[in-house]
Amino acid sequence: MTVAEAVAGRRAIRAYLDKPVDPAVLRRVIAAAQMAPSGYNFQPWEGVVLTGEPLRELSRRMIAAAPQEPAEYQLVPRGLPQLYKDRRDSITGPRMDAAGIARDDEAGRARLQARNFAFFGAPAALLCFVPRVMGPPQWSDVGMWLQTIMLLLHGDGLGSCPQESLYVHGRLIKQFVGVSDETHLFFCGMAIGHPDPQAPLNLYPRTRAPIDEVVRFLGA
Ligand SMILES: Cc1cc2nc3c(=O)[nH]c(=O)nc-3n(C[C@H](O)[C@H](O)[C@H](O)COP(=O)(O)O)c2cc1C
Repeated sequence: MTVAEAVAGRRAIRAYLDKPVDPAVLRRVIAAAQMAPSGYNFQPWEGVVLTGEPLRELSRRMIAAAPQEPAEYQLVPRGLPQLYKDRRDSITGPRMDAAGIARDDEAGRARLQARNFAFFGAPAALLCFVPRVMGPPQWSDVGMWLQTIMLLLHGDGLGSCPQESLYVHGRLIKQFVGVSDETHLFFCGMAIGHPDPQAPLNLYPRTRAPIDEVVRFLGA
């Protein structure tokens, strides 16, 4: 698999086979992802990997809990411009269709969203934390780390889904895995496992803005 094929082929996987992930592969992938770049080489990412009973127990606790107040962070910007709403809707619509949920079925949408708390049935998950002292530039570093992990997982035939939506249980997650709420933010989870190749949720078309909408080329 070339790098270009890995970038094109990775997608968010929301249905998994009932098959464990080799812990040695997880360790190797995450070790390799340490080569992700970061400003000043801060490497401001921190993670906890869960499998087996701890993963199931965290899932149960999140499903049973109410969303935390105040929120861990502002997930969606206030006053989101229409452009971004359109980009969001261009992918959530086909996803709802693939899940067999009518686009105006709000309860169905909420049920689909709630599957995040069960990690979409994945046998492994990565929970990602950022030291509170870090700011927006370092959050971008963390994103590079997460993408590096996802590409490497894809290269190993594994699927993943990054999961910001777990932020509603950030404090619960930190307490569960022994990370200090005082010093760290919970950023994002990541479901990891063997993709179900038949599941429509893993197969719907994904949209992206055309390059000329996002980048201008100046000069020769
Ligand atoms: C940081 C981050 C957080 C995300 N959080 C969620 C999430 O909570 N639940 C979910 O189903 N997808 C989540 N996604 C996946 C996006 O919806 C997905 O990447 C986007 O729709 C593009 O689709 P693709 O990754 O399949 O190409 C997240 C993606 C990123 C990069």
